[in-house]
Amino acid sequence: MKCAIILAGGKGTRMRADCPKVMCNVLFKPMISYVGDAGKEAGAQDICVNTGYRHEEVEEYLNGEYSGVKTALQSPQLGTGHAVMQAGEFIEQHLEDDILILNGDGPLMDAETINKAYSYHKDNENSITLISAIVDDTDGIGHIKRDENGVLLRIVEHKDATEEEKKINESNAGCYWFNGARLKYALSNITDNNAQHEYYLTDCLEILINAGDNAGAYIVENSEVILGANDRRQLNILNNIMRKNINEGLMLNGVDIPCTDGVIIGKNVKIGNSTVIMPNTIILGNTTVGSGCTVGPNTYIDNSTVGDDVVLDNCKITDSTVENGVDAGPFVKVRAGSVLKKGVHIGNFVEVKNSVVGEGSKSAHLTYIGDSDVGSNVNFGCGTVTCNYDGKNKFRCKIGDGAFIGCNTNLIAPVEVGELAYIAAGSTITDDIPGKALSVARARQVIKEGWVDKKKPYKEKK
Ligand code: UD1
Ligand code: CA
Repeated sequence: MKCAIILAGGKGTRMRADCPKVMCNVLFKPMISYVGDAGKEAGAQDICVNTGYRHEEVEEYLNGEYSGVKTALQSPQLGTGHAVMQAGEFIEQHLEDDILILNGDGPLMDAETINKAYSYHKDNENSITLISAIVDDTDGIGHIKRDENGVLLRIVEHKDATEEEKKINESNAGCYWFNGARLKYALSNITDNNAQHEYYLTDCLEILINAGDNAGAYIVENSEVILGANDRRQLNILNNIMRKNINEGLMLNGVDIPCTDGVIIGKNVKIGNSTVIMPNTIILGNTTVGSGCTVGPNTYIDNSTVGDDVVLDNCKITDSTVENGVDAGPFVKVRAGSVLKKGVHIGNFVEVKNSVVGEGSKSAHLTYIGDSDVGSNVNFGCGTVTCNYDGKNKFRCKIGDGAFIGCNTNLIAPVEVGELAYIAAGSTITDDIPGKALSVARARQVIKEGWVDKKKPYKEKK
């Protein structure tokens, strides 16, 4: 069985963040979520996360997103080896298993790379297999030291390295496969005899080699996967790489992104082929977009389901469902709990909140549909407002199929408009309207002939 330990205890001083480092976001999701996903995708059936600095925040996040994940608290934080020691109970349960250890601040490490390293680990019957990469920037890395024949010797942390060792450009990724029992053995032999007076997990390599165990390094082809972030500048680099990888993956699957400027798409987003994503479009969360759509420019979608052949132009859509053939925008906001059924058209400056808008209904301009159940083929005149809030409570409006709502209507909720009913423009509707009835709810127009000459309301011109 495969299991995993994820290191997430560090403070990340250089981030200057208000949260533990692993909770800093890449593409609007904490770094640790990518690491957790990679571990799961690589087949880890049991996962233990080492928490430390502001551990409650990490635990709360894990409980929400990864139920079943175990945690082990490290306090104080005395290094990566010390962190893994805190998972002693977990290791004890997995002495016979293959244990994957991942740095929580390396969100680009992917399951494919981890799996390749696993095959290498098993094929060579290793006790430890680490992942490494040849890098340009050697500052701050763990240098992989080999003898003149290329045989692994140990990992030298940058702060402990001699000038000569600092030139070694093979970097430790912070991602390892261990045999459970041999991990336990190695941990019991780590000391803090180094420049930082920390217990380095990386010392396990030399300890196991000295014990006569098989050890190996799986060198990745693409060194980007080992990048981590210690400060905001590096976080931005990770964001850009992740963004590029996701966009390119989508393009290879037939999504058309003619210009990637401002196009940010989250890792869990699914988009169908022949959908065009226009500039400045952000799509996040568990969002699905169908095929043949045009999304953007300037559109934001979070946690929503969008069907096929949908046009979303300058829209903001959150926690909602947009069915096939909907045409929305420009300047539309669809808030949580809304469903726009097939073929709905909502146009400029229309807001929909917690409402169902039935098939083929239209609201072309300047309308607020809140807490409402709207039937099919309803026509909203310009400036319709559902007055859903009395300052204390919210109420719903119900609008029957085929109703015609004149411009500038106020619907004072709770109120029901019957099927095929008509509302005269400018009405303020407080009472239910039966089906097929006309409702006029406004003062009659009064005309006072010659009033201006009599009253002289304007300043007289000289
Ligand atoms: C570590 C490796 C280094 C490797 C690099 C790759 C060690 C000693 N060094 O260095 O060889 O090249 O990762 O990115 O392991 N953490 C804890 N408790 C602690 C200290 C750290 O949980 O006491 C966690 C951090 O939250 C982080 C991870 O361990 O997620 C790595 O710690 P960090 O301090 O960033 O290690 P590096 O200096 O980057
Ligand atoms: Ca790091």
